[in-house]
Amino acid sequence: MNAVNKIAGQGGKVSQQAGTTGMQPQSTREAEERLALTRAFPTAMDLRERARRLMPNFAFEYMDGGAGNDTNIKRNWAALDGVELVPRYGKVAEPPPAECTLFGRSYSAPIGIAPIGGPGTSFPGAETYFAKAAQAARIPYALGVLSGIDVERGAELAPDVLWFQLYRFFRNEHKIGLDLTRRAKDAGAHVLILTIDTPVRTTRPRETKSGIVNPFKLTMRLRLDALTSPRWMMSLARNGIPRFVSLNPYVPANISLADSANFIRREQGGAFTWEEIARYRDHWKGPLVLKGVLHPSDAERAIAMGVDGLFVTNHGGRQIEALPTSIDTLPAIKAATGNRATLIFDSGVRSGVDVARAIACGADCAFAGKSFLWSLGALGEKGPGHLIHLYTEDLRASLGQLGCLSVDELHGLTVRHPGAWRLQDFAG
Ligand SMILES: Cc1cc2nc3c(=O)[nH]c(=O)nc-3n(C[C@H](O)[C@H](O)[C@H](O)COP(=O)(O)O)c2cc1C
Repeated sequence: MNAVNKIAGQGGKVSQQAGTTGMQPQSTREAEERLALTRAFPTAMDLRERARRLMPNFAFEYMDGGAGNDTNIKRNWAALDGVELVPRYGKVAEPPPAECTLFGRSYSAPIGIAPIGGPGTSFPGAETYFAKAAQAARIPYALGVLSGIDVERGAELAPDVLWFQLYRFFRNEHKIGLDLTRRAKDAGAHVLILTIDTPVRTTRPRETKSGIVNPFKLTMRLRLDALTSPRWMMSLARNGIPRFVSLNPYVPANISLADSANFIRREQGGAFTWEEIARYRDHWKGPLVLKGVLHPSDAERAIAMGVDGLFVTNHGGRQIEALPTSIDTLPAIKAATGNRATLIFDSGVRSGVDVARAIACGADCAFAGKSFLWSLGALGEKGPGHLIHLYTEDLRASLGQLGCLSVDELHGLTVRHPGAWRLQDFAG
């Protein structure tokens, strides 16, 4: 019997023993609703298919499309699918908890919501729904700087779990970037993430073909497309046209959407250099994470300059399709860094089993981007909570099946990983 069945069978009061997602249903009704959702949408890919049908085409294509021919997205999935974990039996009687500690804070599971720029394009109000769901479930939420809520609001909604991601605002000696860092600290964000894997703007053919223009403009074609999706339109009515509100203090008042996009293009761009990372290291005293590390030498260099964590990611296959998959480079990065940095994995996660695979290959936790957007497109504001539940319960079931009493024990499993890069592959 799984956790949901246990809850539903009790009637009236809900037991706290059923699962440890940090997001226990408060009533039988809630438990039944959760069970119904799990029956209808048991996997992230089911949510993706429903999102594809319900969302405006441009909104789906923006979130779901990758660089080139989606090659890296498919390879991310295939590489994760190819990782085999060998179970040991006789130790675990029932699904263990998925609790973990990251940067000294405890979370209900080693699963996080990755930073997403302009998620409101996919689903207006996305950031608010992500922040609430992450706080309720006690899992990390990395709010992107290019978001429809600012870091102060993010911290109000998700005080216990908020991380903050920054792109490079380089003008005037990083005046905006450093001020955002200060604001993130004052607001109480727990971790600062500097994204380093977007040195240039690349194109995504599916996004282009859907009619999205850069800078973003709600053209007549997009408006007509949006009208096909009542749920998207309702969320737009509730949350307004998405703007990057963390930047409000720096943008001249009352300027148009197009002018605001032009302002950001002028102020932000490129990727942080090592010298710049050192500067942010000086300014930000809390845990600092670099996002976009695929080479062990970059990992070494980051650790040498005092970086605490590394996001091993190929940006979900959205930058260029020739990158290696992050699951395949993870073992070499783990071999190079040992226990000197927290390793955060993303790119391709679609299940709790994928989270288990990433941790068995060397990560401390795994984040997901696209699947959380699929969850919103499919189920609206109930989506993120449902997906967190699916991932957490699937991870707990994986722990039990593999004979692990805790998330940490995944590190000791025997793993067959056909595509893994070895440390020596990076020589020269
Ligand atoms: C629509 C979209 C926008 C994204 N925007 C950002 C961003 O602003 N900053 C960032 O560091 N990563 C961004 N990412 C990358 C995610 O943080 C994450 O690395 C990626 O989605 C993980 O792969 P997955 O989508 O297969 O889970 C974005 C991803 C998507 C899908």
